[in-house]
Amino acid sequence: MDMPIIELKGVVKSFGPVDVLKGVNFTAYPGKITALVGDNGAGKSTLIKGLAGVQPYDGGEVLFNGSPVHLHSPRDAGALGIEVVYQDLALCDNLDIVQNMFLGREELSAGTFDEGRMEREAAETLRQLSVRTVKSVRQKVSSLSGGQRQTVAIARSVLKKAKVVILDEPTAALGVAQTAQVLALVKRLAEQGVSVIIISHNLVDVFEVADYISVLYLGQMVASVKTSETNNEDVIGYITGVKTYEGTSA
Ligand SMILES: Nc1ncnc2c1ncn2[C@@H]1O[C@H](COP(=O)(O)OP(=O)(O)OP(=O)(O)O)[C@@H](O)[C@H]1O
Ligand SMILES: [Mg+2]
Repeated sequence: MDMPIIELKGVVKSFGPVDVLKGVNFTAYPGKITALVGDNGAGKSTLIKGLAGVQPYDGGEVLFNGSPVHLHSPRDAGALGIEVVYQDLALCDNLDIVQNMFLGREELSAGTFDEGRMEREAAETLRQLSVRTVKSVRQKVSSLSGGQRQTVAIARSVLKKAKVVILDEPTAALGVAQTAQVLALVKRLAEQGVSVIIISHNLVDVFEVADYISVLYLGQMVASVKTSETNNEDVIGYITGVKTYEGTSA
């Protein structure tokens, strides 16, 4: 087994008297897709916000490539190459694809934005990811479909040379064809060596792409399994709390 790039040991998070994460262990591997599933309110987004440094954990340990790290701010996470693609907040409608992909870290040339270079890099990144449905990188994001928007948001993390890409419900609002397109992109991301963590309520999607499945139930990690060693019925059982995982965690 490869060394995990991310390893959480006993992370806890409370909001006032409410314990939302009750000592959670979680691992993610380079080049692998790990699905994080669980019912509404199980703590998935809270777990991710801790990894993103947006809402630091109250306690527990975070190891990155085996070494303890502190994630107190998004800057800490960004410095390690941890990027989160949020469903809705990801893009600016009034900007084009290139502007969105480089937002906040535009390439400068003699004090002004090097538009030509950014355009080439944006187009090259989309090409690498085999994105063919976007006609021009100078298209405004407002003119893109949901799937294309998600594609641009993911490509943006690739452009940042992310090592860990976290996707919170990337296909929730998408139709069948667009979902297939985004899932294919997620697979290509992993093939390039990126560790992908995907939150999804759609178990069909999960079984299609994930190498590992981790199940949160009321703030506890109740199962971490290889997708090839489990099935839909068992995972639903873990999610709803009617089935207890008996094996050793993957
Ligand atoms: N800022 C906050 N203040 C107080 N309680 C919070 C806060 N954020 C989350 N919670 C609570 O923590 C619990 C877990 O929330 P979280 O958003 O992590 O769940 P989730 O698994 O992502 O659910 P969903 O599938 O609905 O997105 C919920 O009970 C929620 O009400
Ligand atoms: Mg959530």
